[in-house]
Amino acid sequence: MAKNKLHKYQRVKHLPNVIFSMFGKPGSPFPYPWYDKRYKGMERILELGCGKGEYSLSFAAANPLKFFVGIDYKSHRICTGAEKAIAQGLENVLFLRARIEYLREFFVKHSIHEIWLTFPDPHSKNRAIKSRLSAAPFLDTYAHLLVPNGIVHLKTDSDMLYNYTRKSIQQWGGHVVTESDNIHGTDCKSPAASDIVSAFEKTALSKGLAIKYMAFKLD
Ligand SMILES: C[S@@+](CC[C@H](N)C(=O)[O-])C[C@H]1O[C@@H](n2cnc3c(N)ncnc32)[C@H](O)[C@@H]1O
Repeated sequence: MAKNKLHKYQRVKHLPNVIFSMFGKPGSPFPYPWYDKRYKGMERILELGCGKGEYSLSFAAANPLKFFVGIDYKSHRICTGAEKAIAQGLENVLFLRARIEYLREFFVKHSIHEIWLTFPDPHSKNRAIKSRLSAAPFLDTYAHLLVPNGIVHLKTDSDMLYNYTRKSIQQWGGHVVTESDNIHGTDCKSPAASDIVSAFEKTALSKGLAIKYMAFKLD
């Protein structure tokens, strides 16, 4: 394993803005740090599969009165985002090393205002459908966590995942609020969706892939 990656695995365990859940499973009882009084009353926004946390960092910098949690099970990626947050003095963003499958264990019902799915793995094989972050069991979890009228945002370079998500939302009983099949080529209604470019998005753009965006509700 690369030395840099190994160092990050060690460093991340000592960062004050990372909740390090062993094996990605819930490891400690409530209250989690996001229930600290300094975050009380702030809107809560989650980024699932945040990788190096580009979205969480940019949103947190632009919205100091909102509170962000970036979640990923790869701790070396989280390490990069968390160290940047400290360097930039961003106090309204934390990172959680956990599996998205266990999300309900970390947050209370109807306490989240927005959820961002930023370039989730498409899991293109049929046998992996259940791992797609817009599959029904994940939608159940988002509906459980979101406040009434809460919103989920998806950014992806995968046509398959984009079309699958639309169907999955309809079958679940939710509805798409807005969508764009090329946010950099059209007049996208969500500036936040097109302004920030993450590591995976950069790679997709360099391959000439169109970036798709969808916002949906599960009320
Ligand atoms: C394709 S990457 C996108 C990373 C980042 N959002 C970006 O746009 O650059 C997908 C990320 O989701 C994380 N991930 C995939 N499945 C996950 C799961 N079940 N629980 C937590 N993280 C997961 C991976 O570790 C990876 O960092």
